[in-house]
This record gives sequence, structure tokens and C-alpha cells, in this order.
Amino acid sequence: MAENLVTAIFSMDIKDQIHTNLLPKHLAIIMDGNGRWAKQKGKLRVFGHQKGSEAVKQVVEGCAELGVKNLTLYAFSTENWNRPKLEVQMLMRLLISSLKKEIKTLLDNNIKLNAIGNLKDLPVKVYKELMDVIEITKSNTNLTLTLALSYGSRDELINAIKQISIKVKNNIISPEKIDESVINEHLYTQNLPDVDLLIRTSGEQRISNFLLWQIAYAELYFTNVFWPDFTKQHLYEAIVNYQKRERRFGKTSEQLS
Ligand code: FPP
Repeated sequence: MAENLVTAIFSMDIKDQIHTNLLPKHLAIIMDGNGRWAKQKGKLRVFGHQKGSEAVKQVVEGCAELGVKNLTLYAFSTENWNRPKLEVQMLMRLLISSLKKEIKTLLDNNIKLNAIGNLKDLPVKVYKELMDVIEITKSNTNLTLTLALSYGSRDELINAIKQISIKVKNNIISPEKIDESVINEHLYTQNLPDVDLLIRTSGEQRISNFLLWQIAYAELYFTNVFWPDFTKQHLYEAIVNYQKRERRFGKTSEQLS
């Protein structure tokens, strides 16, 4: 009881430090450490993924409550297909069950679901459930939640380059007209702003083929917390840390002030 009270007071404090006018417009998260979290507890990796899906719910709700407009989660990479077959199957099942279970959360919080990646590679059942939830939530406006599924940034860039090349070949675009906005329009993330803050959990400090183009000017935040332990509190800490940074975009401090 007393412990709950202390947690509540502390969490109020950190949340109160957030400036709601300076929120990242686009927050992206590499949710890492599910397997190690489970191993530490002597459990199977899949148990870590299950707990990880509960953390997803916490963070999605936290973002919606704060007013973050775009949240992108790295849920399954192109490289993750190389994991043991059983783990891939369990992850796909977990995706379906989470999508079914959380429709109400999405609707209650006015959240629009979006997905990026090689979605056609997903099992039919996952693809169908995903498309159903995307359709049901398409008019929601509070937060766009993007799941990166069968996603790889190099794959996304190759796909964009192919599409642009075809348009050049057919005289739809002239090579001189290719600029950042043309590239952006051909990425899976075409309607999303650049990432402002990228969080990676579990102590690893790498990007792992995630949103390479979109994080050009993102602030990077690494925490040792394993994803299943990541709470709203940790989200607030990351945002408070982000808001203390000076984002110069190549300019000098003096120019900014
Ligand atoms: C990385 O941890 C996590 C994943 C590859 C999968 C992420 C999936 C979830 C959080 C659960 C379901 C998601 C949704 C959107 C409902 P890891 O397995 O690489 O952990 P390790 O590095 O400790 O082995």
C-alpha cells in the first residue's frame, strides 16, 4: 500500500516534468530484451514476448494520454523470420490475439492503427486481422500507432528506389526532381513525420535496420530496462530526457536562441 503510494507520487512527479508543447511528434521504439527477461526468470522466450505485449499496451496508452501523435513500434523485423520456427509461430499468434484483445483500447483512446513492412509476407490470418483493425480504426485521430512488421529499413529503401526508378523510366519523374520529399513519398512511412525520439530498451545500443532514413535527426535514448519491464514511468523518463536536449539540426546554439 505504502509502496504503491510512493510509486504514485514519484510517477506524478516525473509526468509533471513533461512539457506537453514539446512532445516528440514521432516516437519510435525498438522493443528489445524479451528473451533475456524470460531467461532471467528461468522461463521460455515466448513468456517474455507475452509480458512484452502488456508493456506495449502501457506505452500505447501512455502516449495517447500525453498527446504524442505518432508512435512506431519495431514488432518484427525482416531478420526475425530467421528465428526458430516455433518462436516465429508464437509471435504471430500473439500478434493476432493482441490485435483482437486491444481493439477496445484503440477505440477508447481514439487510436488509428497503421502497419509498415513487407506485410504480404505475414501469415494470412495475421494479415487479415491487421487489415481489419486498420479499417476499424482508420478514422481515429488522437494517435497513429504504427507496427513495423516484417520490416527492414534497407528493404524499405530498396523498394522506394525501385518505385522511383520505374517512374523515371516511364517519364513520370525527372531525375532532377528527386529530392527528400520524393523519397519520403515512396517509403512505407510516407504519411509520418521524421522520428524525433528513438528509444531502445535492454542495454543494446544499435539501430538494427530500423527507420534509417527517418531517424536522420532523431534523439537516441538507450535504457538498460528489458522491454517487458518498461512502464509508463520509463516512457515519461525518456521524454523528460529528450526535452532537456538541444536539437540543433546542424545550426549553432547561438543561432537557435
Ligand atoms: C525483441 O526481444 C522483441 C521482439 C523481436 C518482438 C517484439 C514483440 C513484442 C513486444 C510482443 C508483441 C507485440 C505487439 C505489437 C503486440 P528479443 O526476443 O530479441 O529479446 P532478446 O534480445 O533478449 O533475445
